Formats: sequence, C-alpha cells, structure tokens
Amino acid sequence: MKTKGALLWEPGTQSGWSVEEIELDPPKATEATVKLAASGICHSDDHLDTGDIPLDWAPILGGHEGAGVVTEVGTHVADLEVGDHVVCSFLPSCGKCSMCVAGKANMCTLGAGVLAGTSPDGTHRIRARGQGVGAMSYLGTFAPYVTVPTDALVKIDKDIPLDKAALIGCGVPTGWGSTMYAADLQLGDVVVVFGVGGVGMNAVQGARHRGAKAIIAVDPVDYKRERAPEFGATHTAATAAEAAQLVEHMTNGQGADRVVITVGVAHGSILEPAQAMTRRGGVLVLTAAAPVLQRDVQFDMFTFAMSGKRLQGTLYGSTNARNDIPLIADLYRRGEMKLDELVTRTYALEDINTAFQDLREGKNIRGVIVYD
Ligand SMILES: NC(=O)c1ccc[n+]([C@@H]2O[C@H](COP(=O)([O-])OP(=O)(O)OC[C@H]3O[C@@H](n4cnc5c(N)ncnc54)[C@H](O)[C@@H]3O)[C@@H](O)[C@H]2O)c1
Ligand SMILES: [Zn+2]
Ligand SMILES: [Zn+2]
Repeated sequence: MKTKGALLWEPGTQSGWSVEEIELDPPKATEATVKLAASGICHSDDHLDTGDIPLDWAPILGGHEGAGVVTEVGTHVADLEVGDHVVCSFLPSCGKCSMCVAGKANMCTLGAGVLAGTSPDGTHRIRARGQGVGAMSYLGTFAPYVTVPTDALVKIDKDIPLDKAALIGCGVPTGWGSTMYAADLQLGDVVVVFGVGGVGMNAVQGARHRGAKAIIAVDPVDYKRERAPEFGATHTAATAAEAAQLVEHMTNGQGADRVVITVGVAHGSILEPAQAMTRRGGVLVLTAAAPVLQRDVQFDMFTFAMSGKRLQGTLYGSTNARNDIPLIADLYRRGEMKLDELVTRTYALEDINTAFQDLREGKNIRGVIVYD
C-alpha cells in the first residue's frame, strides 16, 4: 500500500526527518500489518540523526514505540488475528532461542539485528523513491502502518487506550525495568535516577513499585524536576553535586543503594559522579545510550573494586516483553502505573522535526505522534 513515513536519508548529519510517501508491503508468512494509533518520540531515534548511533546504510524509517490494531496477518500466523490490539516491542522475542527460553527475552538473538537495515529475512518491506528502506528496530513506527515480524508484536487487552499503550513498546518498560529488575532494588532502598525523561520517569515509577524509601530525581531541566514527584520522586536535584549532597545527608555518608543513569546521551563524564554516590556493595545501572564510538570515560576503578560495587548495563530494562508489556498495561488499568501523565504533547507526523526539537530542549516527558 501507499502510505507515508518519516525517513532519514543522511543519518548522522542532523538533517532531520523527511516525511514523504512510502510503499509498504503486505505481511509475509510470519508477519502482520498493523494500523498504528500512535508512536512515542524516544531519544534513541534522535541518536540516529545526531550520529551518536552511526549507521552505515540509509535510508531509515524511524520510530520504535508504537501500538495499534492488526489489519492483516501472514499465512503462518496462528497467535494473532485481524482486529487484535498490539504493542510493537522495540526488541523482538522469538520464544525459541536459548536466551528467550532462559527468560531473558531482551537478549533474544533476533534482537542483535534490529539495526541491520532490513527485516530479519534480509529483505525490505518498505520502499521510497524506488529504493529499499530499513526500519528502526524492524518496526518504523513513524508511519501510520507497519508490516513487522509477529515476534515484535505483543497482544494487549482492548480496553487499554492505544495512544498510551504505544509507550509500553520502549520507554516505559526500559525505565521501569531498570529499577524493578536491572537494579535489583530492595525494599527501603535510597535510589538516584539521573535524567527523568521518557525513560527515567519510569525508572522512578519502578522504584516506587519496589518500595524505595527515597527516590532522588536528577535533571537539569526545571520542568522535569517539577513533574518528577507525581511519578514517585521524593527529592529532586539539578546537578550531580546537588544529588551527592542530598545522598550524603540522607544516608549518613554511606551512599545510595542504587543509582540509575537514564540521561539523553551518556557521556563519559557521568560515570564517576554516579559511582561516587553509590554505596559500598551498591548497584549502578547504565540504561542510557552512550555515543557508540565513545571510548574515554572517567572512572575511579580502585574505589569501584575495593568497595564491591556492581556496574550493570541493561537493554530494555531487562524486561521480558511478552510478560511485562501486558503486566504494565494491567498496572495502568489498576491505577498503579502512570501513562497518561507521561504524554506532554502530541504531534502530527508532519510536525516530527518540531517534536525532536522539543525533545532536545527537554520540553516533554514524552512527545507522541498520533495518527488518525
Ligand atoms: N538501554 C535501553 O534499552 C534503552 C532503551 C530506550 C532508550 N534508551 C536510552 O535512554 C536514554 C534516555 O532516553 P529518553 O527517551 O528518556 O530521553 P529524554 O531526552 O526523554 O530524557 C533524557 C533526560 O535526561 C536529562 N539529562 C541530560 N543530561 C543530564 C545530566 N547530565 N544529568 C541529569 N539529567 C540529564 C534531560 O534533561 C532529559 O530530561 C537515551 O540515551 C536513550 O537512547 C536506552
Ligand atoms: Zn526507545
Ligand atoms: Zn529469542
């Protein structure tokens, strides 16, 4: 079908997104086509434009945080039917590989190829200007329709509003899982979250679910600090130094039990202040994407080793999409998880460059593109 999508023709050059006509194929045997209700604006797509995540192929159809209604299924799809409501998961889970069966679906072998520039079978579902187009995370949710592997689709109940459910495709589980699972947070912990945007605000929500005693949200943007208490933050700080002082005071100089980094771009200078405020034996979680080519970081390795701290990287907040997406949807339904409040502003696809400008300026917790 002919539809439209937001493409980067020259990733890494900050040239912005071009909204234009695309040709989308119908689903192959194990795929489905989904009519999307909305797509979140996650910082990871901006990394493609800035070059923090370099690509050696183009063009790319962006977007990896969507939800919608299935309109067509391939011949071998048994677990989804037309009319089902689904969240597009930014990482697929095949359910068969050793990581999937070990309950680590975020490490599914299929996920390793999400930035390869084609569908898992090596072909394109999208064309523009007569050329094959790769899709972000096999998805490409910056388009009103997507044709994707069903391994990347998770069914949800029909009473969950799809425009909010879209956020459960990346930012919400990534942040929430960063404290729920990756940080191994314990009841009564003192937690620091660096960067409370679309991901970090959910790290705050996860810390609240786990029963943290104090949750310190660190963000240089006033608006983010003003909103953080709504999601469970007990304290806020504008800088790492301010946060360190709070932690020192609150813990009698012991340090925070858990520190989570969810800033927009993880520059090498952030690791040291974060580890310095982590207590002996504590856990420091790195969720934020660093510039891929960055190799220099500041890090006091001696103290780190001698105080038995743990540095934990995490993809997708160490969640299992097929379990955690419906779980988060249910928490939302029961009023235990805030999704509506995450959406600061909605945009038409045509205004996508304004949406990314607003992301860079810190105006939104989440900006969301809505389709008719
Ligand atoms: N590991 C994963 O699986 C995964 C998944 C999704 C997103 N991400 C990454 O997580 C990061 C956050 O994404 P997002 O969509 O929430 O971005 P965002 O732009 O919505 O939020 C980032 C926040 O960090 C704040 N910030 C910037 N520098 C800071 C600093 N030095 N100290 C404290 N706060 C600072 C910003 O003001 C902003 O509020 C990005 O790097 C993104 O690529 C990782
Ligand atoms: Zn994302
Ligand atoms: Zn798998």
